[in-house]
Amino acid sequence: MTNGRNEGRAVLVLGGAGYIGSHMVASLVDAGWVPVVLDNLATGHRDLLHPGVAFVEGDFGDRRMVVALLKKHRVQAVMHFAASSLVGESVQYPLVYYRNNVSKTIELLDAMREAGVRNLIFSSTAAVYGQPESVPITEAHSLHPTSPYGSTKAVIERLLTEVEAAHGLRHMSLRYFNAAGAHPDRPIGERHDPETHLIPSLMQVALGQRPGAEVFGLDWPTPDGSCVRDYVHVCDLASAHLLALEALLAGAPSAIYNVGTGVGCSVLEVIDSVRRVTGLPVPFVPAARRPGDPAVLVADADRIGRALGWRPELSDLDTIVETAWAWHRRG
Ligand code: UFG
Repeated sequence: MTNGRNEGRAVLVLGGAGYIGSHMVASLVDAGWVPVVLDNLATGHRDLLHPGVAFVEGDFGDRRMVVALLKKHRVQAVMHFAASSLVGESVQYPLVYYRNNVSKTIELLDAMREAGVRNLIFSSTAAVYGQPESVPITEAHSLHPTSPYGSTKAVIERLLTEVEAAHGLRHMSLRYFNAAGAHPDRPIGERHDPETHLIPSLMQVALGQRPGAEVFGLDWPTPDGSCVRDYVHVCDLASAHLLALEALLAGAPSAIYNVGTGVGCSVLEVIDSVRRVTGLPVPFVPAARRPGDPAVLVADADRIGRALGWRPELSDLDTIVETAWAWHRRG
């Protein structure tokens, strides 16, 4: 709770009961901030909530409620993790994605304007780039999202510049590549239902909860024929947000940063890592390409390193898989 001692340290975390949001809350607490979590638990989990942190079950599109919350806790900044984020699902349900990711964010920005909160850290995505024209991808790469999910994030990035010009709301947009892994010391990790992400799906295979993995395409123009992604440990992602928050509150200008490692790993390399770490066989079968998947998505992450001094520390593939495995084994 915000009190005299915590004055000026309150951060509203939208989606703080989700995978990335819960790791962010842990980092904020460790760094002496006072997170307040707002989550409607649509895809978040009560058991990922941080003990002792204020939690409001509700929807960030509820403008009046958000205004009251921002004022009550004297919030300095908002971190916005509350989105629908599956590329494939967004192709099926574009209206749901635009409602959750665009319409509700408009209400949020209006609430921030009304409450006089002028700092936002926004969760964007590598999906804004679409099929990359060149790799590694810099922030200057053109935006041609190939899914409604990517489009919703690109729309909000643009809106943020316009809202800054009109209302002075400053922001940092972080374009995540593939968030992965679990907290090394706390009981939080990645869980979706149904699970579609590569690493947690492989964990389910290792645990015997599914018979085998599917590799979506072995005929991509990559060295081993499987898709290449830039996996970034979720705690490194959280540390990038922390640096962005501190910079923004210290007066740094609004900015957009890729958050990735610059290192690509293929699906087959990830499977090898899971075999190495677990000591289990992890069978897989080749499957058709998944619509909308680019062959290679690897970040040029120099900008955030130069501007904010961010360096990934837990993002080598085996560390990502080890931390994920430790969490999934707990059940
Ligand atoms: N894959 C498989 N088999 C599976 C699951 C995934 O082969 O069972 C492959 C995918 O084709 C892809 C890679 O593993 O090449 C990673 O797939 P994920 O589903 O784990 O992640 P995505 O790359 O599709 O998407 C993630 C986030 C998005 C974000 C994107 C940005 O879910 O929100 O990274 O890079 F936009």
